[in-house]
Amino acid sequence: MWYFVHILYVFNIIIMKKPLLLILFVAWTISASAQTFLVTSPSDINTITFELRDGVPFYSVDRLDRPVLEASRLGFELQNMRNLDAGFTVASHEITEFDETWTQVWGEKEHIRNHYRELRVSLEESGADARQLDIVFRAFDDGIGFRYEFPEQPNLKEFNIMDELTEFKLTGDHESWWIGAYQWNRFEYLTEHSPISAIDTVHTPLTMRTADGLYIAMHEAALVRYSTMTLERTDGFTLKANLMPWSDGVLVRTASPAVTPWRTLILSDTAGGLIESYLVLNLNEPNKIEDTSWIKPSKYVGIWWEMHLDKATWGTGDRHGATNENAKKYIDFAAKYGFPHVLIEGWNVGWDGNWYAEGVVFYFVKSAPGFDLHEIAAYARDRGVKIMGHHENSATVLHYEKQMEASFAQYQEVGTTAVKTGYVGHGREIIWYDANGNEMREWHHGQFMVEHHQKVVELAAKYGISLNVHEGLKDTGLRRTWPNLMTREVARGQEYNAWGEDGGNPPDHVALVPFTRMLSGPFDYTPGVLDLLFEEYRPDNRINHTMAKELALYVVLYSPLQMAADLPENYEKHRDAFQFILDVPTDWNDTKVVHGDIGNYITVARKQRNSDDWFLGSISDENGRVLQAKLDFLDPEKTYEATIYRDTAKTDWEDNPYEFEIIKQKVRSTDTMTLRLVAGGGQAIHFKALD
Ligand code: NOJ
Repeated sequence: MWYFVHILYVFNIIIMKKPLLLILFVAWTISASAQTFLVTSPSDINTITFELRDGVPFYSVDRLDRPVLEASRLGFELQNMRNLDAGFTVASHEITEFDETWTQVWGEKEHIRNHYRELRVSLEESGADARQLDIVFRAFDDGIGFRYEFPEQPNLKEFNIMDELTEFKLTGDHESWWIGAYQWNRFEYLTEHSPISAIDTVHTPLTMRTADGLYIAMHEAALVRYSTMTLERTDGFTLKANLMPWSDGVLVRTASPAVTPWRTLILSDTAGGLIESYLVLNLNEPNKIEDTSWIKPSKYVGIWWEMHLDKATWGTGDRHGATNENAKKYIDFAAKYGFPHVLIEGWNVGWDGNWYAEGVVFYFVKSAPGFDLHEIAAYARDRGVKIMGHHENSATVLHYEKQMEASFAQYQEVGTTAVKTGYVGHGREIIWYDANGNEMREWHHGQFMVEHHQKVVELAAKYGISLNVHEGLKDTGLRRTWPNLMTREVARGQEYNAWGEDGGNPPDHVALVPFTRMLSGPFDYTPGVLDLLFEEYRPDNRINHTMAKELALYVVLYSPLQMAADLPENYEKHRDAFQFILDVPTDWNDTKVVHGDIGNYITVARKQRNSDDWFLGSISDENGRVLQAKLDFLDPEKTYEATIYRDTAKTDWEDNPYEFEIIKQKVRSTDTMTLRLVAGGGQAIHFKALD
């Protein structure tokens, strides 16, 4: 039977102009009570099967004839309305193929191919108050995506979703990497590693490896006007969409016409293949900003690390970091070494007192005593540097929204083109007031905040401002549509090494996040701390790896805004190593994952945009290892001078983290390099094209 269906499907693709009739015939052929439609990816790798069983919608996914998801439920429970999950017939369906290559305004790869086959199924209820629901499936060679669409219709105008029934029935107890959802510290947790049977409710991306070696990453794309999806294990190996609710229990408030975010699965034979997939970006809408000339990937320095080290304070007083004098010191440093932006945290009124509990204290347009925004911005401008703005609002969103526009306008006036936002606060602390004046408390990732973040990105674009979002929402690829939404934290960043009471980020953290959190998008980890032990300021904390590994992070952890986080004096002290930070770009033509084993090691090679140069970063967890890196990514016509920043054989993250060496050697694409990674170590290489 399946063979027969497949033949008809291929026939259907060939004579694309008459898909409807043929598929209806297939459905009729199978059985009177089940209707089945399938779509296969362009190279016949991944197949999505849609089935209507007695009016109830299901889908399943196969890869190379092996099941990835078994028949899984689809549909919705609605408030004060009949559920939208049964009683359907297929009114129509259509299979189409799409193939285009588009260019990223900035990114880890310049030209991205978006090639898929799509199955659109239009479902319809019967009777006088019948409603419609479309489900759109896209089969790519590197995975699948699907979403629901609610066409405009008289019997479904405004409605509230009380449950999204989407299931993901996995085929076994896969090894998985995840962080738990509904926690007070949002996404800022270390990655857990367990069989799928040990999880409860987790954030996405959720990364898995099956017993036969298939890598699966589940996530969502294009999260707008909806609530964040977490994944709940309902029984055995079945996961279900679990949407972060509003404070009154509604999951999503919406009205037709509307679409949901895409539910996505990246599928790969290798761990690195997950990182090389652009499926999530491909499922987002194209760029909506016409003139993107002001959106520039770049590096930045800032009055930042010194507060985390407690050398300085955000608040005013003797140790206030954001003074005119200190700002000028950073601007001079940025001008000397060519950093386009200087972030200045603590420059505005509001940082005195308990700011993380009381965001209402913040004024986003008023300078704190001892600081003059206009004077400092002019000083910077004269030296070819810009101030990176800062909007820490302690998740006091209504107060922030009132001032947002005036602040973006002021930043634009002083020449700022990038602003870092911050939403420090408990995971469920977003406060607003309903029409009756009742205080409501929302999750950081519920629909209220999804809509807030969308407002911020659109308003920022209006004022020519790019964003670097801290504590915000997970990335779902919206940077394709809004390329001013450049980077975000939304994970445990470098700052945990300064003050984390648990000892900071262990050596494997940065070998995990590229395969988990970073499958969603760029990460403002803020690398580049070369003074690894900072005993003068925080003797009980440290960076838990070597200096060479800190350099390699610039290549491994992609961000279009990349900080050189350390204090200027430490860069002067480690001038040799600092050279790599100066040379490494933040915008790439191509990205290749040379090696990767989740949480153990990873080697990434990236080609600089508008240049023939390549850069490589390789990092290990707490274990030393020797890797062979084939240089076949290099141009076979060229010779390169490789400048290698690496640990010596005696370096060790625990007791000898600073020892490193710089060596140069000529290489070609036919060469293989031996990468010696010591425990907690790494290597950073700049391949300069010579001819
Ligand atoms: C937390 C952010 O991650 C950090 O970068 C910032 O310095 C503080 N909040 C203060 O805004």
